Amino acid sequence: MKHTLGIFLFTVLVTAFYGYVGQLVPQKETYPPRDTEVGEDLTTSEMVDVGREIYEGKGTCVSCHTIGSTEAGRFPDLAGIGASSASKIEGLSDVEYLAESLYEPDLYIVDGFSPGMPPVNRPPISLSQQEVLAVIAYLQSLGGQPTVTMQTKLKYAAENQENAATDVASTEEAGGEELGGEALLIAQGCNACHSLTEPARLVGPSLFDVGKRLTRGEIYEALMDPDATIAEGYPPGLMGTSMTASGFYEKITLQQFESMVDHLASLDGGK
Ligand code: HEC
Ligand code: HEC
Repeated sequence: MKHTLGIFLFTVLVTAFYGYVGQLVPQKETYPPRDTEVGEDLTTSEMVDVGREIYEGKGTCVSCHTIGSTEAGRFPDLAGIGASSASKIEGLSDVEYLAESLYEPDLYIVDGFSPGMPPVNRPPISLSQQEVLAVIAYLQSLGGQPTVTMQTKLKYAAENQENAATDVASTEEAGGEELGGEALLIAQGCNACHSLTEPARLVGPSLFDVGKRLTRGEIYEALMDPDATIAEGYPPGLMGTSMTASGFYEKITLQQFESMVDHLASLDGGK
């Protein structure tokens, strides 16, 4: 019974996916690089509102962070961060600390937590510099006074531009058919949450032996509908939110999807 249901689901998913991709193909090339709607002329208080929207939406911050939760979670609670950020690292202002925690989260790991936050200017989150400024305004408003403006220069400005350029390049590369296997997983940002080479637990389960643990159908499902089955002990919603936000389902071609599933199914932990 379970088996039949599995085959049924698999068929539905594959059919749905082919139909979906069929619709996408003609417009594939017309996608402009998604640019930001954050205007240069926003006031600081408008930035706070826009920043909150990004925080709750495209930024996927809510999949990991809480604000004012009393339960100790796996990720830092951000209540009061607007005030506390000014004194976290000596020599860094609140804006500098917040920018660093967004662009280079692994540079300083908050006490009592493990690394695991993806840099927000890279896939899968891929915020523009304007969007990051708005998010900083929102974070400052949590217990502090927002001071950042759309003209504030962050130390990451140049790097951000460069990364944005690389992102476009890597997206384009991912549009070609040459990328396969591990390179494709990395180009899609999967390694931000999954270890591909060892049995390490990151935000999500290690994928290095996923081909031994899951059938091809289950791998299809884990990608197409991540919330249908949740790997035990891991947070639901996170992968789906992130893949939707990063435009995975819009950008991936059928060939790439097939080759991604093939590659995952072949990962057996080196045995
Ligand atoms: C996949 C989970 C994840 C996502 C998504 C995520 N974070 Fe984080 N964040 C973490 C982890 C883990 C830490 C603690 C480790 C560290 O310091 O890097 C952290 C740390 C932080 C800190 C430092 C907190 C402190 O107490 O000093 C800030 C600020 C922050 N995140 C903001 C954000 C914002 C804003 C977003 C959305 C744009 C975001 N995070 C998205 C996991 C995440
Ligand atoms: C923002 C973090 C995040 C990103 C990015 C992400 N995943 Fe996941 N993934 C998770 C989490 C958390 C789980 C476990 C919960 C669940 O099953 O949905 C998971 C589960 C999975 C599973 C099921 C694993 C198992 O052992 O059951 C597979 C397969 C998988 N992801 C593949 C991928 C691939 C391929 C990509 C890139 C296209 C990707 N993931 C991107 C967080 C992420």
